[in-house]
Amino acid sequence: APAAASAVPAELREKYAAAEQEHVFKYVDSGLVGGEQAAHLISQASSLDLGRIKTIYTAAMEAEKNLSSGDLEPLDKADSVADSSAETLGDWSKAGMEAISRGEVAALVLSGGQGTRLGFAGPKGMYNIGLPSGHTLFQMFAQRIGSLSRLAGAAIPFYIMTSPMNHEATVAYFADNAYFGLPKEDVLFFPQGTLPPLTEDTGKIMLESGGNIGEASDGNGGIYSSLKLSGNLGDMEKRGIKYVHTFSVDNAICKVCDPTFMGYCISQGSDCGNKVVWKSEPGEKVGVFGKKGGKYCVIEYSEMAEADTKLTTEDGKLAYGAGNICNHFFSTDFLRRVTAQDDVLTYHVARKKIPTPDEAGNPVKPDGNNGIKLECFIFDAFVVSEQMAVLEGERASEFSPVKNPPGEAKDSPDSARLMLGAQAIEWIRAAGGTVIEGSNMCEVSTALSYNGEGLEA
Ligand code: UD1
Repeated sequence: APAAASAVPAELREKYAAAEQEHVFKYVDSGLVGGEQAAHLISQASSLDLGRIKTIYTAAMEAEKNLSSGDLEPLDKADSVADSSAETLGDWSKAGMEAISRGEVAALVLSGGQGTRLGFAGPKGMYNIGLPSGHTLFQMFAQRIGSLSRLAGAAIPFYIMTSPMNHEATVAYFADNAYFGLPKEDVLFFPQGTLPPLTEDTGKIMLESGGNIGEASDGNGGIYSSLKLSGNLGDMEKRGIKYVHTFSVDNAICKVCDPTFMGYCISQGSDCGNKVVWKSEPGEKVGVFGKKGGKYCVIEYSEMAEADTKLTTEDGKLAYGAGNICNHFFSTDFLRRVTAQDDVLTYHVARKKIPTPDEAGNPVKPDGNNGIKLECFIFDAFVVSEQMAVLEGERASEFSPVKNPPGEAKDSPDSARLMLGAQAIEWIRAAGGTVIEGSNMCEVSTALSYNGEGLEA
């Protein structure tokens, strides 16, 4: 055998052979990959839990076969901001502010995703959506936390879920920018887990190049295990945090720790809550909140039958219109309960174009889907909730996702800027200010105001 073949420790090779995954050493064995590259591959291979990968793969393929919307039902109860009186909204907001003032609320942003649709290589939170200030998504979220924390007179710890691929860049970005004014000890980072891409029919681990196994985040449902394993769930409990507001990194207008939503959930003793906005059209790519087998759940857009998306009720509204905006309330007790069981989340199958090595071992991107990534979804844990709360918010002030590249009219930096601009104009007018007609772009810094307050001066 070529000298390089011996580079693979016998025990590791046996393990891989027993799992029918020994092809990952093909390029090392043929001598095409050696030295540091071989060492890298061997260290990657040693860190993978083949038994776990097989279990996840088998369960995911099985679950996909049984995917049916048969027992799906639309949402039967929800409150909405638009239909609630000013008094009720005031009560919720007060309850939320009180909890924040007692230091019981934390924020958590999900930023372990890859942001491929946007075409931005760095951590998505570092994306500048083109506001006059040039503030990035991370900066806006951090400053909103700072502004709210000042109003409440208490700290709001900010947890940031990264991935092993973007962790260092994210941590460095916050450090370089002095945590955007937040106390350093209140900004906490933890990476989520990853899984290698697999072939669909046999679950073989896919090499990206001769000396590298592909690696992808295992979905935003990775929050539960990584919160626990990183010790951050324990950290929350030690700080006396009772409620966590979790949100996606791409919603530029997101009201981080929204007192109204937090108070809405807290005052009804909920362990889990979801903020939704009504879908703009049947084809909008958002999950919908409904019920399955009698339990509250989100059905992801990729798994919903097209006919169901178009169903309407007697009043002409979409039956499945309660759009998920990845904006969730969790009690720390709920997080504990979810992490105490290991089979709450089933992984979902996403077919993707996965680069594979050519004969020389160099990565080549295929034209079509050639493999799968397995991802778990944060909302699949809703089944564990004993008291679910659902609040429908108003799209204009709740949901401006930045998913598509600049120039696109929908779900892009352009649409997010327009929404933030419209909100700023409303706030300025409400504070007695005048907005010159034809103004190009208007921005109220998140460092100055959380929700339009304090602008009179
Ligand atoms: C997500 C929701 C979808 C909702 C939409 C609204 C999930 C599974 N789907 O879809 O129901 O309608 O947002 O915009 O929540 N992330 C990680 N780690 C991962 C994968 C994703 O942290 O491994 C983060 C992303 O960085 C992002 C959030 O989770 O902040 C949502 O993920 P994304 O891939 O953007 O989900 P969508 O397909 O947009």
